[in-house]
Amino acid sequence: MIEISHTTKGYSGVMTSDWYGPMPMQNLTVENGVAHFGISNGNPHVPAKTWTAALNGDRLHVKGQVWYGKLDNDAVRGSEADAKARRFHLSNLPSYTALKPDGLAKTPPMGWSSWNKFADHIDDKTVREIADAMVASGLRDAGYRYINIDDGWQGKRAADGSIQPNARFPDMKALADYLHNKGLKLGLYSSPGPKTCAGYEGSYGHVEQDAKTYAAWGIDYLKYDLCSGEAFYQTQAQIRGAYQQMGQALRATGRPIIYSLCEYGRDNVGSWGRSVGGHLWRTTGDISDKYSVMAKLGFDKNGAASNAGPGGWNDPDMLEVGNGGMSEDEYRTHMTLWAMSAAPLLMGHDLRHMDKATSQLLENPGVIAIDQDAKGIQGQAVSKDANTEVWTKALADGSQAVALFNRSKAPQVISFTPAETGFTRISKVTDLWRQQGVATDKRQFKVPAHGAVLLKVTGV
Ligand code: GLA
Repeated sequence: MIEISHTTKGYSGVMTSDWYGPMPMQNLTVENGVAHFGISNGNPHVPAKTWTAALNGDRLHVKGQVWYGKLDNDAVRGSEADAKARRFHLSNLPSYTALKPDGLAKTPPMGWSSWNKFADHIDDKTVREIADAMVASGLRDAGYRYINIDDGWQGKRAADGSIQPNARFPDMKALADYLHNKGLKLGLYSSPGPKTCAGYEGSYGHVEQDAKTYAAWGIDYLKYDLCSGEAFYQTQAQIRGAYQQMGQALRATGRPIIYSLCEYGRDNVGSWGRSVGGHLWRTTGDISDKYSVMAKLGFDKNGAASNAGPGGWNDPDMLEVGNGGMSEDEYRTHMTLWAMSAAPLLMGHDLRHMDKATSQLLENPGVIAIDQDAKGIQGQAVSKDANTEVWTKALADGSQAVALFNRSKAPQVISFTPAETGFTRISKVTDLWRQQGVATDKRQFKVPAHGAVLLKVTGV
């Protein structure tokens, strides 16, 4: 909706969209029936876009762009009553209070999410089949319990404002029951904005109501993605407030629900994620099924280790293992990095069609144990050069996980020193990927291009 008014002070105008609510027109000028103005989506990192609105009789031709969406359309003249009905209802945020830990997510959440493989082409039947495959493949028993429907399940709101699933999900409660009966859990996705990133209904203005609906359906996990909320919530206090609002609403339901914050690592989210009730928070933009992207996230954008630990985890995004865009060695690096980082392990491939190599990468018990170690330490690099990195992660039983990463395109010999492990005498070394012991004095390992070796080292 376009509203332009003229007073003695000159022109002013507001454009209202379902995605971003009311957006003030910037630098508005009107000449010969054509308005020129700038529109910003609120993200301070994205420059305002240039718009025009040209009046031709009763038609107003509007042209411009917000974020990815382009508009080049005729608008029709409306009455003041229409405008009033369409004006956005702005809602308030709660004042800041730190929520107490709720004892969930003592180790990083493990499961599957629909997004990386299916985007929003996801439906009830596929989710049930994925659940069946999770059990049949042994992945459930390896620790993967959450089945998360990402963007694309939402339909329209009912007359009372409650959110309904779309036609692809006929009965969300029945789906949750189906998963629960298999020892699995169901996750959903929403946004603090009016629209999600893929354009579905967000929770703006319905936060408490949506939390109650999720709890009534039996939902166990919520990913809350900033998306169009960035038009409303821009400062750290506002973004934190928006996440606190849903965190409180989830708590108020009394149902244990894992709360995943997705605002791409902005505004130092790791320092406040727990206090708004978050159990994990994204530290980056989106992963894709490419070595270069995965490596950038896993090596360099995995968040400050000091923020991670039982109850709250840095989330460098979901797994791509099994989606076909990386080599087996590259996927081994992906799993090794995520395990060393104590990152959430949310698979993102089609479990119904999984080859042996993929299931071996995902089900290795020694590797999963590093990720899920009760001490909850996020591992870090102890030495690096242009091609290689050595990481360690202290484990609850007093041993150390040691990962040797080859970031180059040629094989490398990588070594570690006892000093890097904190031990003066090493008594046992296990190669976790090969699932076999290694001589306690072996220090040098040949690591394939873009590959990794993961060791469990015990000593005194
Ligand atoms: C954002 C998130 C992704 C995914 C999509 C869904 O891009 O970062 O993980 O949830 O939205 O639209």
